[in-house]
Amino acid sequence: MDRVWIFVFIGFVAVVLSSVSATLTINEISGPDYIEVGSQDELVLDCDFTAENEEDVVLKWFFNGLEQQIYQWIPQDPHAYALGVLKPMIDNSFKISNDPRTMLRALKFKEVTPELTGNYTCKVESTDSEQVMTKQVIIYSPATSFDMFLMGGDDEFPGDEIIFCDAKNILPKPEFNLYVSGVNGSLEEPEMFEVTKRVSPNDDGVYNMSITLAFNASYLDVGTTRFVCQLDIPGTNYSEVKSVEYFVDSLDLKRTTEGLTDNSLMTEDSGKDRISSSIYLVLLIVGSLVFAT
Ligand SMILES: *[C@@H]1O[C@H](CO)[C@@H](O)[C@H](O)[C@H]1NC(C)=O
Ligand SMILES: *[C@@H]1O[C@H](CO)[C@@H](O)[C@H](O)[C@H]1NC(C)=O
Ligand SMILES: *[C@@H]1O[C@H](CO)[C@@H](O)[C@H](O)[C@H]1NC(C)=O
Ligand SMILES: *[C@@H]1O[C@H](CO)[C@@H](O)[C@H](O)[C@H]1NC(C)=O
Ligand SMILES: *[C@@H]1O[C@H](CO)[C@@H](O)[C@H](O)[C@H]1NC(C)=O
Repeated sequence: MDRVWIFVFIGFVAVVLSSVSATLTINEISGPDYIEVGSQDELVLDCDFTAENEEDVVLKWFFNGLEQQIYQWIPQDPHAYALGVLKPMIDNSFKISNDPRTMLRALKFKEVTPELTGNYTCKVESTDSEQVMTKQVIIYSPATSFDMFLMGGDDEFPGDEIIFCDAKNILPKPEFNLYVSGVNGSLEEPEMFEVTKRVSPNDDGVYNMSITLAFNASYLDVGTTRFVCQLDIPGTNYSEVKSVEYFVDSLDLKRTTEGLTDNSLMTEDSGKDRISSSIYLVLLIVGSLVFAT
């Protein structure tokens, strides 16, 4: 008799728990945060969700906010639907698993192009609940060239020194900045000098950027001053740094310069061929003036 009551009680608890434990959650969107153009030929973003004791579950993917829906799937349904601007690139038959409850939840792009850069939102809805999660993906292209030059450093007369940094064909828009290295190695904005930045994107969002710093070496501290140009694409691990050192002698204020290149990605480039560098610099400046007009 007691035993029967125990079974009834357990059964009652199980019924209560199962009706209470309806859950709809998105655990994560897995996939890359960034991809270099040309390094992969497909992109998969997997919306890992849990739906327990939920009715009428629908999974939707959106691009750049909740206005543009690009994908829809109803769990258990053998078909998913791609729609909107990215439709031609989406493989709506891609199965992430063989489980009919989850198999078509992932978004697969058959190619990786810069237009896929953006924010992807997965939204899972049921009769009485909804969950959203967003992930940003950046498709980037590193600079095809990145140069730094110092001109006028060997002059008798201070005041016409120029530092020029130039980076070409980067996508999307990078952060590009010139700093002066302080005594303790910290990088500071060169506030006392005039910095000119030129930014030119083309129609495809590919950027050429340059920075010109005109300065008067008489205002530099005695000793070595290091100028640093830093190029980064936010949201990716892409970063390149170049630097040039300028030396002011303590005794007779004689100025000499030393070229130096720090670079994690590109080959070393010594400061020895400064004459050809100067010619190249003049060509670059003339070139950018022509492009600017
Ligand atoms: C994507 O989201 C980030 C962070 O919220 C935002 O800064 C960025 O502008 C968004 N990009 C687009 C294309 O909406
Ligand atoms: C650079 O500064 C020195 C010292 O202040 C000054 O004599 C010289 O004229 C300046 N050069 C230019 C081009 O302004
Ligand atoms: C380095 O020195 C600058 C001033 O020259 C100071 O603002 C900065 O806080 C210092 N940084 C460190 C890490 O000590
Ligand atoms: C960037 O520079 C390259 C090489 O000089 C040139 O072919 C391209 O048209 C430039 N792009 C822009 C947007 O100015
Ligand atoms: C950036 O990260 C990728 C993997 O996410 C790695 O293969 C690559 O070497 C990294 N690049 C740099 C410059 O750290």
